[in-house]
Amino acid sequence: MVKIFDLQREYDELKAPLAEIFDRVCRNGEFIMGKELAAFEDAFARYTGVHFAAGVGSGTDALRIGGLALGLKAGDKVVTTPNTYVATVMALSMHGIVPVFCDIDPETYTMDPHALEKVLKSEKGVKACIPVHLYGHPCRMDEIIDVCGRFGVTIFEDACQSHGALYKGRKVGTFGLAAAFSFYPTKNLGAYGDAGGLVTADRAVYDAICRLRNYGQAEKHQHIVEGFNSRLDELQAAVLSLKLGRLDAGNEKRRHLADIYRWDLEDETPVVLPVEKPWAHHVYHLYVIRTPNRDALSQALRGRGIGTLVHYPTPVHLQPAYKHLGHKKGDFPVAEKAASEILSLPLYPTLTEEEAVSVAAAVKAFYAQ
Ligand SMILES: Cc1ncc(COP(=O)(O)O)c(C=O)c1O
Repeated sequence: MVKIFDLQREYDELKAPLAEIFDRVCRNGEFIMGKELAAFEDAFARYTGVHFAAGVGSGTDALRIGGLALGLKAGDKVVTTPNTYVATVMALSMHGIVPVFCDIDPETYTMDPHALEKVLKSEKGVKACIPVHLYGHPCRMDEIIDVCGRFGVTIFEDACQSHGALYKGRKVGTFGLAAAFSFYPTKNLGAYGDAGGLVTADRAVYDAICRLRNYGQAEKHQHIVEGFNSRLDELQAAVLSLKLGRLDAGNEKRRHLADIYRWDLEDETPVVLPVEKPWAHHVYHLYVIRTPNRDALSQALRGRGIGTLVHYPTPVHLQPAYKHLGHKKGDFPVAEKAASEILSLPLYPTLTEEEAVSVAAAVKAFYAQ
């Protein structure tokens, strides 16, 4: 039996330091906005290579607080890709910000800069662009920066799936005016519950984020804008500091397992494997293969006790919640075709080499039938 995600194994490894964290935080008696949060924010800012990091309640909150901190308001348009987790879009559309979609590059499943340029030429009023570093692979940032620069569009990165990924040697999250991260438990850097964060090099954006996450307070009892209660609590912050110290090793293990899948599946099966562009350092949040027999393969693997998932089966523009945007099948053909063929295989730092080999063997067996 190989699960698609397995968080219990990690808990077994971390039991002792987690118990120590629980004891330390509880004895300290400070649960919200204390020194554990400050320490994690400092460590995450250093890790990412930006001046400021701010913890919030989830990746979704990071997207909405970041978008509002960048000055987006109801009626503004934001361009992103339709093959993302719905939160990329919903976090802002809930505030009246209008999503506009742009198709993807078929190899990396990330924003196609040429498609972006076409969208920006035809759509007026696009204020921001959200490139999603999907599955752990960075977007083509130089071209996206160039296009957005020419159209006066602000870049806000969705780095929720790409902690530690590099574009041309530089961490994702450092290319936009701000970037959102999710620390959902299964992410490369995951908490033990919902959690998220923002990074920015801009002091004014950082201050706006800090106000928005804490009831619009500039200082205690001074509410200068309306805001939310979306704070990263002390327990989660302490857990994240512990796990940040293991992030690079975890990413390396993911890359090693991805190599095993490649060695075993390339040339042996017709499945399309994930690519790592020469300018990219992929952190394999997900290991996404592609095949027209996706559903049959998934079922065959389930029959052998191997879990798989589809990230994501329905592109956002075809979700019922976005019916009012008037999109139809065929509007974003590259993303739609990918959605019908992609399949995520198990890949996480506690997956063993033997398990990866057994998953690859099961995929090969499916095609040998
Ligand atoms: C690309 C992307 N954006 C946003 C989110 C939302 O993050 P969260 O689940 O922490 O709210 C996720 C999480 O699944 C994601 O993968």
